[in-house]
Amino acid sequence: MKKEWWHDKVAYQIYPKSFYDSNGDGIGDLPGILEKLDYLEELGVDILWISPVFRSPMVDNGYDISDYYAIDPMFGTMEDMDRLIAEAKKRNISILMDLVVNHCSSEHPWFQEALKDPDGPYGKYFYIMDGKDGQVPNNWRSYFGGSVWEKLPGYDNKFYFHSFAKEQPDLNWENPKLREEIYQMICWWMNKGLGGFRIDAIMNIKKDLTWADLPADGPDGMADVYKVSQKVHGIGDFLKEMRQRCFDPFDGLGIGEAMFLEEDVVKNFIGEKGYFSSIFAFEPCHAYRKGKNYKEYLWPQPFDDWRKETANNQKMLGDIGFEANIIENHDQPRGSSLFIPKEDYGFYSVTALATIILCQRGLPFLYQGQEIGMCNREWKLEEFNDVETMSQYEICLKEGLSPEQALEICANHSRDNARTPMQWSHEINAGFTGGEPWLPVNENYKEINVEDQEKEYGSVLNFYKRLIRFRKSEEYKEILTYGTYEPRYMDQDHIFAYQRCLESKKLTLICNFSSQPSSVTLASDYENVVFVNYEQTTVIGADLQLRPYEVVVLEN
Ligand code: GLC
Ligand code: CA
Repeated sequence: MKKEWWHDKVAYQIYPKSFYDSNGDGIGDLPGILEKLDYLEELGVDILWISPVFRSPMVDNGYDISDYYAIDPMFGTMEDMDRLIAEAKKRNISILMDLVVNHCSSEHPWFQEALKDPDGPYGKYFYIMDGKDGQVPNNWRSYFGGSVWEKLPGYDNKFYFHSFAKEQPDLNWENPKLREEIYQMICWWMNKGLGGFRIDAIMNIKKDLTWADLPADGPDGMADVYKVSQKVHGIGDFLKEMRQRCFDPFDGLGIGEAMFLEEDVVKNFIGEKGYFSSIFAFEPCHAYRKGKNYKEYLWPQPFDDWRKETANNQKMLGDIGFEANIIENHDQPRGSSLFIPKEDYGFYSVTALATIILCQRGLPFLYQGQEIGMCNREWKLEEFNDVETMSQYEICLKEGLSPEQALEICANHSRDNARTPMQWSHEINAGFTGGEPWLPVNENYKEINVEDQEKEYGSVLNFYKRLIRFRKSEEYKEILTYGTYEPRYMDQDHIFAYQRCLESKKLTLICNFSSQPSSVTLASDYENVVFVNYEQTTVIGADLQLRPYEVVVLEN
């Protein structure tokens, strides 16, 4: 496998609105990130993905961009962004921005022009179609619920297409002019010295141009739009072009938000010269998503499915390429709430989860607050902010749940859980802002915050620092990066285990992911215990004794 600059790095996602507010308006901003760069360097972060900070009406918190060449004043200025890139570079941190090019905002001048003249050049930047006698052109359902079609204001029978909210019209990638605009924009940013981009919702850019109805999959008679991307061919032509034009010349890192890849195409996506450098490993951390609505999601994440999906993914990838491994992001509940039953939450469970993820093959991708064990918050309905959560709440009610049940389900699964302000200290508002935070802080900030954990040797934060140092240590870096991955003890309840091998070196991770003691019989002698979350590993005969949520990494 050809070695790339980013293979042995550790990445971290920032949701800027909730990271750190420098000016007291209650909203995190770029100068706030600048202030925390030393913290991130100290943690061991090499790559920083910043969720969108472009000019936006913020219907979907910046995933609706109205000017790709401007920073939203809410976050600061272009000078702040330039300074952030430069200051990060000094600390050997590469910045990835968020590339949202499946759609833009309905306030983008392109769309405004399209509204004025749907048949003109900008009309062709979007998908504007005639309806069927004033009815929508087909039965596809958008990700956030409701039809993907919205009536073009001022017309009786013209509709535009949106995979997400109606304020996020999809861009027409079939139009070479549009693609050209996008490529120029990406290169403009890359020339500023970015390390690359995380690429949003990219599997949606290829549409089924027959626009044929899909078999209904719900009582509304509609079918989920993601099924279209699973069915159509030809997306590779766009992606290859984008890579060659925008990423290759800069040796840039492109991390795709792509999922449900089949074995035969993985190579095209993330193999050598693949469309992306890497994609997120969603399958293992979406194992709870058994249906399309929160209502059908399981809670918490079923251990067996998580373990199985991880093994499948790792096997499918082999040494073709690397996925980016996560337990959470801004679209998910908190990993430490999702993976760990509530009554088991604590130092050992949180650090066990961390170790399992960070020792896997792939690029470890932390999400802000994960490193201190931030978890879900208790919600009142009126406190939610997220568009998706609102629509999911309505769906629950429509399907006959009581308001209490609907609230409970949304409280578990809402994306707002990941978006509560970062907990910097035990001061008011968790030290996130001197003003009124845009979203409520989690009340547990007095126990869970950076400042206190920095001072406490045995904290989750200091564990993460040690874990990252272990991952990047001269001795184990090669094997943890390039070593093969073999699942182990798959038939033993609640044991998450795997072996990494590189040449004659072998590391075995064994974790008892449960609140009950357990043990496994070691297959061979080991030389060293190289990483643990408890003191003193106990082996009796060939049996490794494991306390609740104990994880050990052995060198064989
Ligand atoms: C991606 C983003 C999500 C956003 C959606 C539409 O899934 O991660 O936050 O709502 O795309 O841009
Ligand atoms: Ca601010």
